Amino acid sequence: MNKIMQIFDSLDYGPAPEAPDQAIAWLDSKGRKFGHFINGLWTEPGQTFSADNPATGAPLADITNGTAADVDAAVKAARAAFPAWSGLKGYQRGKYLYAIARMIQKHSRLFAVLETMDNGKPIRESRDADIPLAARHFYHHAGWATHLEREFPDHVPYGVCGQIIPWNFPLLMLAWKIAPALAAGNTVVLKPAEFTSLTALLFVEICERVGLPKGVVNIVTGEGDTGAALVNHSDVDKIAFTGSTEVGKIIRQATAGTGKGLSLELGGKSPYIVFEDADLDSAVEGLVEAIWFNQGQVCCAGSRLLVQESIEERFIAKVKARMAKLRVGDPLDKSVDIGALVAQVQVERIRDLMKRGVAEGAVVYEPDGDIPGEGCFLKPALVTNVSPANTLVSEEIFGPVLVAMSFRTPEEAVQLANNTKYGLAATLWSENINLALDIAPKLKAGVVWINGTNQFDAAVGFGGYKESGFGREGGREGMANYLKPKWEKALKPAPALPVVTPAASPNPLDSHGLDQTAKMYIGGKQARPDSGYNRPVFGPDGKLVGEVGEGNRKDIRNSVEKARSALSWGTTAAHSRAQVLYFLAENLDYRRDEFAARLKAQTGLDGAEEVEQSIERIFAFAGWADKYDGAVHNPPMRAIAAAMVEPLGVIGIVAPDSKPLLGVSTLLASALAMGNCVVLVPSQTAPLSVTDLYQVLETSDVPAGVVNIVTGDSLSLAKTLAEHDGVDGMWFFGSAEGSTMVERASVSNLKQTWTSRGLEYDFTSSHFAGDYLLSKATQVKNVWIPYGA
Ligand code: NAI
Ligand code: MG
Repeated sequence: MNKIMQIFDSLDYGPAPEAPDQAIAWLDSKGRKFGHFINGLWTEPGQTFSADNPATGAPLADITNGTAADVDAAVKAARAAFPAWSGLKGYQRGKYLYAIARMIQKHSRLFAVLETMDNGKPIRESRDADIPLAARHFYHHAGWATHLEREFPDHVPYGVCGQIIPWNFPLLMLAWKIAPALAAGNTVVLKPAEFTSLTALLFVEICERVGLPKGVVNIVTGEGDTGAALVNHSDVDKIAFTGSTEVGKIIRQATAGTGKGLSLELGGKSPYIVFEDADLDSAVEGLVEAIWFNQGQVCCAGSRLLVQESIEERFIAKVKARMAKLRVGDPLDKSVDIGALVAQVQVERIRDLMKRGVAEGAVVYEPDGDIPGEGCFLKPALVTNVSPANTLVSEEIFGPVLVAMSFRTPEEAVQLANNTKYGLAATLWSENINLALDIAPKLKAGVVWINGTNQFDAAVGFGGYKESGFGREGGREGMANYLKPKWEKALKPAPALPVVTPAASPNPLDSHGLDQTAKMYIGGKQARPDSGYNRPVFGPDGKLVGEVGEGNRKDIRNSVEKARSALSWGTTAAHSRAQVLYFLAENLDYRRDEFAARLKAQTGLDGAEEVEQSIERIFAFAGWADKYDGAVHNPPMRAIAAAMVEPLGVIGIVAPDSKPLLGVSTLLASALAMGNCVVLVPSQTAPLSVTDLYQVLETSDVPAGVVNIVTGDSLSLAKTLAEHDGVDGMWFFGSAEGSTMVERASVSNLKQTWTSRGLEYDFTSSHFAGDYLLSKATQVKNVWIPYGA
């Protein structure tokens, strides 16, 4: 029988290799040895490491391992280029971005082949996903550059951005980082991942050919140390990182107290939920995309299958049948589904995790069939018989390994889905629109796909909840992450407040004559401090004006617990939250004289105006509660993405000493308006105005637990709050040292922080009456819904 007849007989795929010639020619033209790209010039190669093809083990080129001096030269070049680049008209920057987008499109096949050779991903994916999405990102952001002034009035770029990217989508992650940064007027120093630098180096040539001004984009290659040098460089204004949660935490620590902007896009363990009424065949195809796209090396991979018990057996059988058809092999073969993993260390890492999982009771299924004997290949795997505690369920595997569990009810599905420290993405399949739209908002993830998966677009923000990081890439939120309000950039150090010397050294027994001992306010009740001690509050003349409780860790922990149990405040209708805030403002209004007198007693200043401003501010945020809406995006596929604005959850607020009532009113009202629950530490020097709020809160229908107030030593209470894993966001107003402490302490659950760093925030300004605060109190979840014909 001849070959064609054989193929007819077996219906097997024949080889369909994509030629590597052009990519090899390009590498050869560069002598297969690269320096960095700094200030528009290639540097001489320094100490190098080898860039390898993980499918064959063949070395492709020598890459320079960047030193701290290289990083410094690149940062200097970016700094020097910044004034001219940020000074261009938006559309002029846009023109460069358009030109880059076009050039990526024009050379898309070369980029795709080079990406596949360097990374091991199937050519089908680099050709159809990575490269077109990278081009789309530059096109989209060319438009943002053009419309910047109108869409982000009075905003300025950060300056020099240090960007560190991973190896799973090398050119695409470069595009996600560079396009918005340049559109906003920043200049950049980007470090590609050590396993995959080549398309970033090819991108350099695009920059050269479109005549991008020198120093606007600098590429420094290297390993983790090179990345660390960039993070720690004192003249970098913002760090944008995508990679492991582990390194994300190191970077959070390293940038604490520096004032550098920070966005982190980290790991995930995203649930893939299949309800019994789902279109099962489509859900299987989606699952293939969710977990075997890019060999599972995807931060948002749907790596945890949660399938409803009633269809579990049927669905798993379908998955296994489909797995048997997946073709593992040469990534340059156009009909291969699963290529090579990025490097041998990743293969070993995945094998180790699998061994641990199996030792803990997991059962692993792998389909029959061969995989190449050499190169970094693994078979697709399906893991069953696992409990939520199994390593394979809790750890990000970052490989072609799917873990399956079942659930009975939708509530249980939500509970299992959210039972992870991560919160990057989630997928759900159901033919019942009511069920789908009921579940989507309950999933704690930055992206939710309904009846689809792994959809991405430049217009739609992408990023995580919880330990999957903070900040968004893409869309308006992504642009906002590369801009700052002008006034914020101009903040000056706060003048020191007058130091009050107590008239006499305070004898704890003296104060007993006062009936002014304010308690804490926890879970809607006034509570005595756990410590059993009070602390005196002095007026400006040093005379005792009252006492408040000496709060400690226990009081904070109780408050956080109460706040977490009140989180349904976030799903209360915004209209109802507005009503409660109006009521609060009104009740404060009734007692304005009393509050003014109290402010005067503590600060010596006329309090009437501050009370007036506080009432106005609470009214302002009551008004905002039902108006800070999300958006509906129309990405270029059959779907809409509903960008939903959601609260952070529990916010710890440490209030400023100056304007003690206005500061609290502003911060509290904005957090509450957006549906957050709050644990508030009032000003240490003037806490009495805030403890007087208890009665106002009680008469205003604020549900128990939504606001909790703990008085005491601001710094030690701030530390406890910042370290607490039940706190999702932390706003700290105080010294630079205190701010550094808070940012460091926030690392354990990667809570979002906003610290004043000893700078003077003028709460009377209208900047504090609107979206500046609202955006800090919220995070955006994009829910993708199939739509249209
Ligand atoms: P990684 O987080 O170490 O690498 C990401 C980037 O960070 C690379 O460019 C690397 O050179 C750089 N880097 C490493 N240490 C640094 C430091 N101290 N300061 C600054 N930059 C630093 O990830 P790695 O080691 O390549 O992969 C390990 C695991 O991390 C993977 O198996 C996977 O589980 C996870 N990962 C997750 C990614 C995601 O997008 N969610 C991407 C890459 C890895
Ligand atoms: Mg490589």
